Amino acid sequence: MDDLRDKYINLIADAADEVAIEDLRVQAVGKKGEIALKMRELGKMTPEERQIMGPKLNALKDEINSALSAKKTALADAALDERLKTEWLDVTLPGRGRRQGSIHPISQVTEEVTAIFADMGFAVAEGPQIETDWYNFDALNIPGHHPARAEMDTFYTHRAEGDDRPPHVLRTHTSPVQIRSMEKNGAPIRIICPGRVYRADYDQTHTPMFHQIEGLALGKDISMANLKWVLEEFFTAFFGTEVKTRFRSSHFPFVEPGAEVDIQCKWENGSVKVGEGDDWLEVLGSGMVHPHVLKSGGIDPDEYQGFAFGIGIDRLAMLKYGIPDLRAFFDSDLRWLRHYGFASLDQPTLHGGLVR
Ligand code: PHE
Repeated sequence: MDDLRDKYINLIADAADEVAIEDLRVQAVGKKGEIALKMRELGKMTPEERQIMGPKLNALKDEINSALSAKKTALADAALDERLKTEWLDVTLPGRGRRQGSIHPISQVTEEVTAIFADMGFAVAEGPQIETDWYNFDALNIPGHHPARAEMDTFYTHRAEGDDRPPHVLRTHTSPVQIRSMEKNGAPIRIICPGRVYRADYDQTHTPMFHQIEGLALGKDISMANLKWVLEEFFTAFFGTEVKTRFRSSHFPFVEPGAEVDIQCKWENGSVKVGEGDDWLEVLGSGMVHPHVLKSGGIDPDEYQGFAFGIGIDRLAMLKYGIPDLRAFFDSDLRWLRHYGFASLDQPTLHGGLVR
């Protein structure tokens, strides 16, 4: 029995892993293990012998069992220590910074303009970018033969051969949203409509896709004076300084009278400053909504009248943030976007400030 004991205590001490321990357990104290075989021999012994050998065998079995479980625990601890060493992680190291995206100047300026007009009671309306030529032209008093229709450099959708429905167009201005809003809400109404517009034109100050904000205010007692006040109020809030405006008589088929509006500016070493000097820069078209247009929108021109305007957002963004080339707006050049973009938390509000 002493040999048996020494043999297993040594084997257990040398076991390399849990699999070896399990093998030893089966060999030593398993049902057919060496201790069990010895137990079986008890039957052949005299009662006196059995009284000595029985307890001794049981004690040996206990000793081996506890050596097995002690070794098993030791092996598991060692394995855990090993793992902890390799999986070590310094949680005090500084994190790796990630570059954040930025808000495009067009989006930022759209939000700024919206905040200012919202404060004056204008709600935001939207319309589709692919329009029927009725909404884009006819309803706005631009009939088929009208020269303005040709001047718009319109993109027409393709029609299959034999399909002689009039084509759709990529809207050339946001003015069709005037008609859609009149149809939907009637009068009185006070809305602005920001969005994309399209014209086939490309140079430093023109891209085939650009942005406008349409404005429309209809009521029973709205005049050109209201239009002037609203726009002057807008420019002053937008540029953060008093800006003089110049209303030049002009023609758009959907307004009568019509005016183009310039803002006061100064050119200095190739860049422009708004609100100073005695140069002028055209930024929008406007006027009193033409009676034909009111009728197209289902509104009685004898009862309601009002003004409309269309501002070029891209132009405003260039002026306010000193961006020289319009085409760069839509190049998706990350260096440009990081330079001219806005932090996503810089939400423009009238109380928090519109200017960076
Ligand atoms: N729709 C005109 C344009 O795109 C602008 C405009 C809008 C003019 C409303 C008068 C009234 O140039």
